[in-house]
Amino acid sequence: MSVTFDARSGIITLDTVATTYQMKLAETGHLLHLYYGRRIPGDDLTALIPRVDVSFAPDPYECRATRTFSLDVQPQEYPAANVGDFRVPALIAESADGVYGDDLRCVSHAVRPGKYALEGLPCADAGEEDCQTLAITLRDAATGLQVELLYGVYEKEDVITRAVKIVNGGDKDIVLHRASSAALDVPFGDWQLIHFQGRHAMERQMERVDLMHGIQSVGSTRGASSHHHNPFVILCGREAGEEQGECYGVMPVYSGSHRTDVELDQTGDVRLVTGIHPDMFRWTLKPGEAFTAPEVILTFTHEGMGALSRRYHRFLREHIIRGKWNHAARPVLLNNWEATYFDFNTGKILAIAEQAAALGADLLVLDDGWFGQRNDDNRALGDWFVNEEKLPGGLDALIKGVNGLGLKFGIWMEPEMVSEDSDLYRAHPDWALTVPGRKPTMGRNQLVLDMSRGDVRDYLYDTIAGLLRKHHIEYVKWDMNRNMTDVYSRALPADRQGELFHRYILGVYDLLERLTTDFPDVLWEGCSGGGGRFDAGMLRYHPQIWLSDDTDAIERLYIQHGSSFGYPVSAMGAHVSACPNHQTGRTVALGTRAVVAMSGTFGYELDPNALTDGEREQVKAQIARFKRWYDVIQNGDYYRLAAPGEGRFAAWQTVSADRGEALVSAVITHAAANLPGIHLRLRGLDPEARYEMDEMAMEGCQAIADAMYGQDAAAERPVYSGAALMYAGVTLPVMGGDYPAAQLHFTRVK
Ligand code: DGJ
Repeated sequence: MSVTFDARSGIITLDTVATTYQMKLAETGHLLHLYYGRRIPGDDLTALIPRVDVSFAPDPYECRATRTFSLDVQPQEYPAANVGDFRVPALIAESADGVYGDDLRCVSHAVRPGKYALEGLPCADAGEEDCQTLAITLRDAATGLQVELLYGVYEKEDVITRAVKIVNGGDKDIVLHRASSAALDVPFGDWQLIHFQGRHAMERQMERVDLMHGIQSVGSTRGASSHHHNPFVILCGREAGEEQGECYGVMPVYSGSHRTDVELDQTGDVRLVTGIHPDMFRWTLKPGEAFTAPEVILTFTHEGMGALSRRYHRFLREHIIRGKWNHAARPVLLNNWEATYFDFNTGKILAIAEQAAALGADLLVLDDGWFGQRNDDNRALGDWFVNEEKLPGGLDALIKGVNGLGLKFGIWMEPEMVSEDSDLYRAHPDWALTVPGRKPTMGRNQLVLDMSRGDVRDYLYDTIAGLLRKHHIEYVKWDMNRNMTDVYSRALPADRQGELFHRYILGVYDLLERLTTDFPDVLWEGCSGGGGRFDAGMLRYHPQIWLSDDTDAIERLYIQHGSSFGYPVSAMGAHVSACPNHQTGRTVALGTRAVVAMSGTFGYELDPNALTDGEREQVKAQIARFKRWYDVIQNGDYYRLAAPGEGRFAAWQTVSADRGEALVSAVITHAAANLPGIHLRLRGLDPEARYEMDEMAMEGCQAIADAMYGQDAAAERPVYSGAALMYAGVTLPVMGGDYPAAQLHFTRVK
């Protein structure tokens, strides 16, 4: 049993294989948090949290005489405002009488086999044998507000998911001003915060900071999870590293505006509250109505950040990403965006496709510019009919040509947007988010469609489904290229406008649910100007998401490194592009570009006709190599061996589940003279087994001296024990030049 309840002590314990999460139902009915950490066998941890009188910490009425029980210092599961806890609240509600706050006391709890579902929101799935659900209902007697705390306990995976359903059980309206998904109180310890910040074309840069007294927040008010702060944070012990140390992972399954607050309080305890961003959020619940806060995926490990990441990778692949393409081999694609931008026609695309097929690619993706008068990015979004001037004979003629070369055909769309200069906007100006009487703020000269509206979603469903039914399209890239401003819906009354940010993303989920259900064979790739909506919510619909608009291989090292803390390789769209790179102007060897892009869903974004014959041979070999190593790359356990920026190289490794195969990749980011080759200790191998290094690819090297673990680099297929590779390590040959790279492939010797 992963969930146990002791009625006498009020102790509720959630056990997974390696962790224990314990709560206590206090005599007062408050639901306290006692512990989340390494597995503990059946102890009652009540005494961990002292009951002392802390000055200026108010007491619930029944504790007024003893004065040793204050919500201001007791760790809690779901703290509400205005009842004695001055730390960050998870819930701020206002009754029709103007009463703020809720005195939440437990009324019931229930344990069910299997996993709860959340209406209208993406969440992790599970079979009955994989998960147990705990539901605890709290209630505020004064207003009738009910809060159902949901816990999904994935015993084998060491994951606990949380979500919240808030019901108006009273007889008057209640307004929610903040309805977070979870609070996690962490009493004791010296914690640091790891978060993933960035900007367009430089997303998810890992930042590790000390906590200060007060509140630190990361989040987005952009209506999308954003390039700027990913909805994923780690709280880690000061001593934590890749291989050791305590860390908590907190990953909201949400793609809209979000916020995570981390407070270090007066007593040194930490509270983390995460969920929908409370700014401009105001949700009215009529009597009997319910509001569901998005799910959060929590995990804890004492084995360092590497273990934490691998747990998320596995969990997302098993319980979030779904459908045919989750585990199926993804196609190697060639996307025409950086090859042609808007300047293409059928002939040009077919010429690209011909080369792509010859090189071994599987899919040709036609990016932006194929529809309406879309000859630049100022117009035509919304006009999802083919531009016959560019593509005479329409999509079918082109698709036939592409399919005839043995390639699948995929297409780009940006369904949530509309250009002012479009037939759609001219017909339905009220479908865009704009404020009456005010000129809208523009982003990429486009407007955002009101996805909270059923008529907008129906129109988009019919349009996209129509295209998919009519043409043989096997892949869709779903883009989203601006953030939300002028957030006002013509379809909502004044007192419901505060719901729009969240209703928008619910609308996106609704449309994606319908489309991905009705077109299960299509491979959907998410995108938002690259990685502007790269989150667990979107991964429920898109098994892969274009990681970043920055295709520079060296910048990508940082983006992929940061993204790898939470997200699996199989989710990260990564392409080899032309040099000098279009975003940075940097030149990196073609081989190195491929080594980096291979740590994602591999593809190309260049004109293969512009390659030399030699380069084409290289590309052929790269695609063949990727396909040969597909399984260990896409499904293997991921190890960060050396972080970019910390030394003069970056390195990472994937190991197959049975530890029979491993691939090590390294890129030197800073050339230096008179240094030995870089040294790496491998991870995750079987120490007892012997591994043959059956392939070694050196890319972009100007000069190579041959030294490899005491053997000649040219030696045929050297064999090492797993122990030697992990404990002694390997020293790579000296690699000179700008950004050389190496890939070492190992296979266990039978
Ligand atoms: C932004 C995407 O990230 C790019 O890959 C490309 O599809 C452009 N949009 C097209 O407008």
